[in-house]
Amino acid sequence: MTVVALGVHIVDVLARPVESIPAGQDTHLLEQIRVTAAGAAAATAVDLAALGVPVASVGAVGDDELGDLLVMMMGRRGVDVTGVVRRRGEQTAASILPIRPDGGRPSFHVPGANLGLAVADVGRERILGARVVHLGGMDVTWGLYDPAFFALLDEARAAGTIITMDLLSNMPDLMQGVRSFLPHVDYLLPNEEQALLMSGAGSAEEAALALLAEGPSAVLVTLGADGSLIAEAEGVTRVPALDVEVVDTTGCGDAYCAGFIAGLVDGRDVAGAARLGTELAARVAGGLGSDAGLDGARALREEK
Ligand SMILES: Nc1ncnc2c1ncn2[C@@H]1O[C@H](COP(=O)(O)OP(=O)(O)OP(=O)(O)O)[C@@H](O)[C@H]1O
Ligand SMILES: [Mg+2]
Repeated sequence: MTVVALGVHIVDVLARPVESIPAGQDTHLLEQIRVTAAGAAAATAVDLAALGVPVASVGAVGDDELGDLLVMMMGRRGVDVTGVVRRRGEQTAASILPIRPDGGRPSFHVPGANLGLAVADVGRERILGARVVHLGGMDVTWGLYDPAFFALLDEARAAGTIITMDLLSNMPDLMQGVRSFLPHVDYLLPNEEQALLMSGAGSAEEAALALLAEGPSAVLVTLGADGSLIAEAEGVTRVPALDVEVVDTTGCGDAYCAGFIAGLVDGRDVAGAARLGTELAARVAGGLGSDAGLDGARALREEK
């Protein structure tokens, strides 16, 4: 498989526009409610499939209806889900996102089966055969803080596999812990808040440079509407966001990662791959949910 997206799998239920939680038992009528395959591994896998990149997803979900739904949604969109393990008696991770009229996205979340993902769930052959392994949300998959997993990543890298990593949470303790992955990763793609918490730095640029010093060959920090910045040994460059009418930014970071990975697969340089990530993220921002705007995404790979 060209790409393996490994880590967090979540069912998102999104509603818009939500101005407030109704008082008592009242009902507010909305324009839209959707359910999507989300999370730093699952959403990125769906985006990669939309870009036409062969992708398999590895993670843990429950044996509940949410898990059925998640694997069905991913399979329908072309993701190989044979590496998604089903845990008896556990709940599939899920979020409820009431999206504000301005695109703001508060959430309610149950971490569920993601927390138990462990190295025994990760097929060794699958990792060693991939061109890119994307680690999505290692801050909450504590079972992968395992020397055996790090050794597997290093073995894959030695054979030419590229390792990319994105994060899920914004919890300070988790951001510190996840730094142990950095010596085993080629490209780190945190958002600004995560980069600041991981590094303790005072600005996104300082954060990116500090994290770069811990092992990756580039650190790409996403800055929401301000685009992203890329720190490499040669210096720091900025990639502006596209000017789009924003409905909901859920999954923009995942789309950025997917476009970046597809760009690497296509042989683009880091800045060129980041531009593809930016273009896909702009599409996702234009609709509700992490899979909005993906129709026809494959054509983005032709425009260099
Ligand atoms: N309001 C916006 N307008 C245009 N582009 C945006 C906007 N918000 C995000 N993006 C694009 O998406 C990229 C990633 O966004 P962001 O920094 O919000 O990621 P994130 O916080 O990791 O999101 P998530 O993890 O929920 O997917 C940005 O670098 C930018 O290119
Ligand atoms: Mg993110």
